Amino acid sequence: MGDAGAAVVAVTGASGFLGAWLVAVLVDQGFRVRGTVRDVDAASKWLPETLPEHARGRLELFQADLLKKESFDEAFSGADFVVHAAAPVSTAKPRNPQKVLIEPMVKGTANVLQAAARAGTVKRVVMTSSTTAVSAGPLERGKHGNHMYTAEDWSTVSIKDSPYAVGKRSSEQAAWDLAEKLDLELVTILPGIMFGPCKDPNRNNTGTNLIRAYINGSYPVVVNLSMPSCDVETVAKLHAAALQTPSAAGNRYLVAQESTIRDLLNALRSSFPDRARKLPRWFLPKPVAKVMSHCLPLPTYLARQIDVPWTFDYGPAQQDLGFEPSDLGSVVCAVAKQLIDEGDLSKSKNLKF
Ligand SMILES: *[C@@H]1O[C@H](CO)[C@@H](O)[C@H](O)[C@H]1NC(C)=O
Ligand SMILES: *[C@@H]1O[C@H](CO)[C@@H](O)[C@H](O)[C@H]1NC(C)=O
Ligand SMILES: *[C@@H]1O[C@H](CO)[C@@H](O)[C@H](O)[C@H]1NC(C)=O
Repeated sequence: MGDAGAAVVAVTGASGFLGAWLVAVLVDQGFRVRGTVRDVDAASKWLPETLPEHARGRLELFQADLLKKESFDEAFSGADFVVHAAAPVSTAKPRNPQKVLIEPMVKGTANVLQAAARAGTVKRVVMTSSTTAVSAGPLERGKHGNHMYTAEDWSTVSIKDSPYAVGKRSSEQAAWDLAEKLDLELVTILPGIMFGPCKDPNRNNTGTNLIRAYINGSYPVVVNLSMPSCDVETVAKLHAAALQTPSAAGNRYLVAQESTIRDLLNALRSSFPDRARKLPRWFLPKPVAKVMSHCLPLPTYLARQIDVPWTFDYGPAQQDLGFEPSDLGSVVCAVAKQLIDEGDLSKSKNLKF
């Protein structure tokens, strides 16, 4: 294949939902990929098989643990680029979120950036952040409403309201601080909720769990909640573009399309008419939902997002990285099809936003 001269990209979190898509996109573009995973034996059983046979030789797997300082040195040694997509596993509501959730998120990011700097060969780091780092929605009452969030915005959410959102904001901020200190080129990609078929066997990510819950009849009643969303494959391609676009250095790219639960359900209802009776049928009006939010699987603060658009400026991603909005309806239908074809409708999984 003449791969010897190809650039080497180290991908952290390679066995995750986005990670597996990143590996696929990067090997397809001819890169040699070093995937870091927590369990090499487990990942080597399925991850190479998700790639076209001729490209499997371009993937090598390495064991790494975000919270161990020198864990990434082997995988990053001689790498041209690092894509940092790994995040520590989060628990819903830890009692001491600062220690249990936020500090590990920040420390993991610091470990990756420091290892990238130590390698001495890494030309650029592209990190997966989240729109949550920019806005946790209705919690930011100052701007909330018709404000279109841009790369200039940082979430002002408090630990009490959303430890996870604080963790996302803090780890992206830590990355920018360290990149400057260590003289590393950094680009961050900030997706909304990612939807798309899973390459990984876990089928346990926010988007997939949400679609599973809709089609298995978990929610007879929903609300018209705004859900900034995107297609996981597109997000993976944007990371690849961010590695290769010189002018992207130093930028944050928001990639979330405005959509609502209503839009997603309409798409599912028209593609899967025989499941229509399982799909949520009633929309709770906002005043009712606000009063009842404690008995809905809906964080209280999100009740304030009902019927209110929540938009992020993806113009710069269009201009610099060639982002094109996807038809999210067909993307969520592809997720539903995968779950239905596999009979994977009843797994008891944590639903988290
Ligand atoms: C649903 O919410 C969106 C904002 O996210 C709003 O534009 C739309 O009007 C709402 N639809 C209905 C039927 O209330
Ligand atoms: C439906 O899917 C959700 C999300 O994965 C899961 O939590 C729930 O247990 C499932 N419900 C049934 C009845 O199988
Ligand atoms: C799904 O992922 C969450 C963490 O994000 C974890 O707590 C849970 O145990 C996982 N569920 C399954 C069935 O793998």
